[in-house]
Amino acid sequence: MKGHVLITGATKGIGRACAMRFAQAGWSVTAVARTTEDLQQMQRVWAKNYPNSVLHTHAADLSDAKGVSSVPQGDYDVLLLNAAAFAPGQLLDEADLYTAMHQLNVLANHRLARRLLPGFVARQRGHLVVIGSTGTDHWKKYMTAYVATKYALRGLYLGWEAELAGSGVLTTLVAPGATLTASWENETPPPDILQPEEVAEVVFSAVTNQRTGRLLV
Ligand SMILES: NC(=O)c1ccc[n+]([C@@H]2O[C@H](COP(=O)([O-])OP(=O)(O)OC[C@H]3O[C@@H](n4cnc5c(N)ncnc54)[C@H](OP(=O)(O)O)[C@@H]3O)[C@@H](O)[C@H]2O)c1
Repeated sequence: MKGHVLITGATKGIGRACAMRFAQAGWSVTAVARTTEDLQQMQRVWAKNYPNSVLHTHAADLSDAKGVSSVPQGDYDVLLLNAAAFAPGQLLDEADLYTAMHQLNVLANHRLARRLLPGFVARQRGHLVVIGSTGTDHWKKYMTAYVATKYALRGLYLGWEAELAGSGVLTTLVAPGATLTASWENETPPPDILQPEEVAEVVFSAVTNQRTGRLLV
């Protein structure tokens, strides 16, 4: 099985590992992130390492409506909603972490779904994969703002799952535990931390084996 996957936040961490996993299998990848240099670096890697995969790149800040409306409406087989921001802290801290993270972790996904899923429904096929977090199973005090956005995303996912049932479009929520990415730069990672490639394998296998529902990693 080969197709075309759009991945948000595809230049780093879990998103990049997913892009590489799909590319290894000869899929076309549309990679979305803000930093143009990282997207250009991906183009160089693809030309050298994945000659059977076509890479399209799109630079956009998904945390505002304008950025989301610039994302191309292609004939995608998979929409992988992965991009999110993480910052530790408390709700009553001076810096309003929740509002900042809500723009990307929740609103961007809601807007992208509204922009791209009608095309999937019209084609009566495709797979929506959303990256959640086990944070919604194991709440931690210093992660409240982030985890609240992931609860909201989980709520949206339940709505997409219900609304897409019977349309031919599959839905999967992949919920990883702590994974070694840039999100951990200023933190002490737990000893059992996952590698991004392990999460990517679960995402790829969910798509190729048409696994739906919530998958814990
Ligand atoms: N790492 C963990 O421990 C962990 C655990 C559970 C779940 N997750 C989830 O896994 C997903 C990926 O996390 P990660 O740790 O792999 O992230 P990451 O390494 O921090 O990478 C984030 C990606 O998103 C892009 N991005 C950030 N802000 C953006 C914006 N405003 N618009 C567009 N793109 C943006 C980044 O590129 P630019 O900065 O260039 O835009 C980058 O490609 C997230 O949904 C996260 O919640 C992570």
